[in-house]
Amino acid sequence: MKKTAFVTGSSRGIGREIALKLAEENYTVFVTGRNKEDVDKTVQEIKSLNGQALSWVGDLTTESGLKEALSFVEQNGGSLDLLVTNIGSGKTSQEVVVELAEWKRVFDINFFSAVGAINTFLPLLEKSKGQVVCISSIAGIEKISVALSYSVAKAAVLSLVQQLMRPLAAMGVRINAISPGNVWIENGSWDRKMKENPTRVNDIIQNQVALKKFVGADEIAEAVWFTVKNPSITGQNIVIDAGQTRQWP
Ligand SMILES: NC(=O)c1ccc[n+]([C@@H]2O[C@H](COP(=O)([O-])OP(=O)(O)OC[C@H]3O[C@@H](n4cnc5c(N)ncnc54)[C@H](OP(=O)(O)O)[C@@H]3O)[C@@H](O)[C@H]2O)c1
Repeated sequence: MKKTAFVTGSSRGIGREIALKLAEENYTVFVTGRNKEDVDKTVQEIKSLNGQALSWVGDLTTESGLKEALSFVEQNGGSLDLLVTNIGSGKTSQEVVVELAEWKRVFDINFFSAVGAINTFLPLLEKSKGQVVCISSIAGIEKISVALSYSVAKAAVLSLVQQLMRPLAAMGVRINAISPGNVWIENGSWDRKMKENPTRVNDIIQNQVALKKFVGADEIAEAVWFTVKNPSITGQNIVIDAGQTRQWP
């Protein structure tokens, strides 16, 4: 039987690339996002490549959105083999002191979106002996030039993966994290930053990244697939950053 994957935030960016890769590997993919046009476009793209995908449109940071998503999966076969928690954004203030409400918003998008999706889909994953992949960031590993709240939320995602590994293993479920560096996507965040301030972006790539290059979204999708297809990998964090982090695990 064909396996199924639910990828949070897969209408564009890294999530879209993960959805395309999983469809190529014969998964039926639930493609998700709040903008219907983007979701449908990615589903059509997968179908045009002879893959299988379904559109789910809504907000996956809310309890009602998560409940609706679960019902949708239940109405469409009711089984789930893989959950990828990909929603996240570093768009926030770079100041040291930031309003508590803004900290909470950043945690909702980057951390509680992962917790919510895992809570919601774990019963299905336990049934299928499936797995979870959480997209974190190198910002969660060491200090880089991004907002404090984003870094702390992404570190919390890594801690979540580490802490959940054993209880999930006892249920037959694996969980891993992927930590991307600077991922180049057309119209994505680095494309925007490059248009706004090319000098700063070039300085980061030339002076902070050992390989002096951006990471491709397809490389993140390949890393997701690497953890999915290896039955002995769990509780790990795979860094794909072209040599930006200095810390050895
Ligand atoms: N880009 C990078 O360089 C980079 C580096 C390290 C880590 N990351 C991490 O990688 C992940 C993906 O980043 P990206 O740059 O590909 O992001 P992106 O281009 O902004 O795409 C985010 C995706 O999530 C969806 N989304 C956002 N909020 C949502 C919500 N509340 N409910 C449902 N869907 C939602 C978006 O669609 P809608 O807006 O239509 O909802 C879109 O499909 C994030 O966790 C990010 O922190 C990215």
